[in-house]
Amino acid sequence: MSLNVAEKKAVEESWARVSQPSFQDAGEKVFLKLLKNKFTKANFKKFRDIPFDQLPGNAALREHGGQVVQVLDDFIKGLDGSGYEAVKKVGRIHKAEGMTSEKIELMKLALCEVLDDAGCGDHVTKAAWEKLWRLFMAAHSDGY
Ligand code: HEM
Repeated sequence: MSLNVAEKKAVEESWARVSQPSFQDAGEKVFLKLLKNKFTKANFKKFRDIPFDQLPGNAALREHGGQVVQVLDDFIKGLDGSGYEAVKKVGRIHKAEGMTSEKIELMKLALCEVLDDAGCGDHVTKAAWEKLWRLFMAAHSDGY
């Protein structure tokens, strides 16, 4: 299973918009969606004691978000296979943190919301991201 030319184009174009103006900005947006859920937030030692309304602009959140977006960027730009190891490595990190695949799946919803906010919520783009996410999770599971 791989992305066809049209799906790859839809992912690349939407990612170019969403990952602007910087990976830290994009990461902050994604994590503010992800951490709205207090049970998800409780997984993060770095953030669980910070009230949600104090998270926007938080330096640690922006730094962590930037690292996560960097991995997604490596994966999207390395769909020829060169991004695989970066995601597998994150799978290993998550396993060590006790994060199940079900917990990591929550990121798909956060990413979908950020895509919607950036005006990239059309059917073709969403379907391409759905496929991209399945590829991401397959590489991620290989790290377990
Ligand atoms: C696209 C999806 C994701 C990517 C690429 C990703 C990437 C990463 C990376 C690179 C680290 C290591 C950060 C460091 O070295 O400080 C990390 C740590 C971690 N991730 Fe993820 N992550 C993703 C989704 C999630 C989700 C959805 C959860 C929880 C629901 C999660 C939970 C954690 C936790 C608990 C840590 C340890 C944080 C700490 O150092 O305190 N991750 N992740």
